[in-house]
Amino acid sequence: MRSSTRGRAVRIAPSILSADFARLGDEVRLAEASGADSIHVDVCDGRFVPSITIGPLAVEALRRATRLPLDVHLMIVEPERALDDFAAAGAAVLYVHQEACTHLNRTLARIRELGARAAVAVNPATPAALLEEVLPDADRVLVMTVNPGFGGQLFIPSMTGKVARLAAIARRARLPVEIEVDGGITDETAPAAVRAGATHLVAGSYLYKSADFAAAMRALRRAARA
Ligand code: DX5
Ligand code: ZN
Repeated sequence: MRSSTRGRAVRIAPSILSADFARLGDEVRLAEASGADSIHVDVCDGRFVPSITIGPLAVEALRRATRLPLDVHLMIVEPERALDDFAAAGAAVLYVHQEACTHLNRTLARIRELGARAAVAVNPATPAALLEEVLPDADRVLVMTVNPGFGGQLFIPSMTGKVARLAAIARRARLPVEIEVDGGITDETAPAAVRAGATHLVAGSYLYKSADFAAAMRALRRAARA
């Protein structure tokens, strides 16, 4: 694969959406002890997506529970209004949805100004081409491989085509953008996503609903290398 991350191991971010919310500190420490590269935190507002989850207060508490970077996936309307609070709470990467941003360049620039890494997420129905103009402003692109809002849904196979199209756009433009997939990632779906060009994987239920978290992490790493 010709990309800036060629040769590097695929990064894995457990999503705490499927964790036990009464024991979040232990759940992120389990991910850390099992070799996770970062922690994926899903923020849902009941408007951009039907579900409602957590806010900056919980991110701030998680910040104290782990040394791993926190990847904060904002599935909220008007995300630009919440950036300062989530950056102050300790987000290392802030994701905004293309579909939720009227002034996406400005919003991504603001994330960088706040000292976080800027990521743009796209729903399954949003074409790769809509990201072409903002790639220089993004450190990472998140391709949703399910419709956002809930854990435990099935991977949409056609999304690997979108990953490949984005990887090609980034390559042509010589931009070192990271490509991440989120939704329905398992040891069975990860290989196709990685082959298409994904450098980062988010996995929620596959890890947190398994009987043995560390064994599931190892299986996912093996699958991502295959
Ligand atoms: C879905 C969230 C995901 C979710 C993935 O809207 O963005 O991060 O936790 O869960 P799984 O891996 O179970 O599909
Ligand atoms: Zn997510």
